[in-house]
Amino acid sequence: MKPAWLILIVIATCLIAQEPAQPTATMKQLMVDLIHPASNDILLAIYRGGPKDDREWAALRRSALSLAESANLLTARGRARDQGNWIKDAKLLADAAAGAYKAAQAKDGKALAAVAEPLDASCTTCHKQYRPDVFPREGGSQ
Ligand code: HEC
Repeated sequence: MKPAWLILIVIATCLIAQEPAQPTATMKQLMVDLIHPASNDILLAIYRGGPKDDREWAALRRSALSLAESANLLTARGRARDQGNWIKDAKLLADAAAGAYKAAQAKDGKALAAVAEPLDASCTTCHKQYRPDVFPREGGSQ
């Protein structure tokens, strides 16, 4: 094969590899199937006094990780409603979830409990701005 062809193939492969993945979930599905259940698991665990054993900590770690990465999905091109407050609000959620993940890794009940308030507030902050028709009836995580 001629080197020129090889270079073209390499360039084409790079271009294809950089094509962003097509989103599967709508915003609503992301909320209902990923973000709400994951945040609910975390808040419930906190309200029940924190995970009791390794299995419960592992479950919490998984929920925190899905929540943190789901928050990142909110900022993806095509999903972010704008590049200002939306990104800030998604970051509030990402930070709270990352805090829960860190606490789960350290099995630190106190650090985990401290996440409840900012986590709950992150939902409300975004819903107030971007879901005004529904808020406050279904706002927040409860
Ligand atoms: C960055 C913005 C943002 C954040 C953060 C956010 N949401 Fe949402 N949420 C939305 C938007 C926008 C909708 C409306 C989606 C639609 O109907 O298209 C929504 C809708 C929902 C719905 C209702 C879906 C329906 O219509 O039935 C639930 C439940 C929900 N969010 C839960 C949460 C929870 C729990 C959190 C926090 C852990 C959260 N959301 C954080 C933007 C956000």
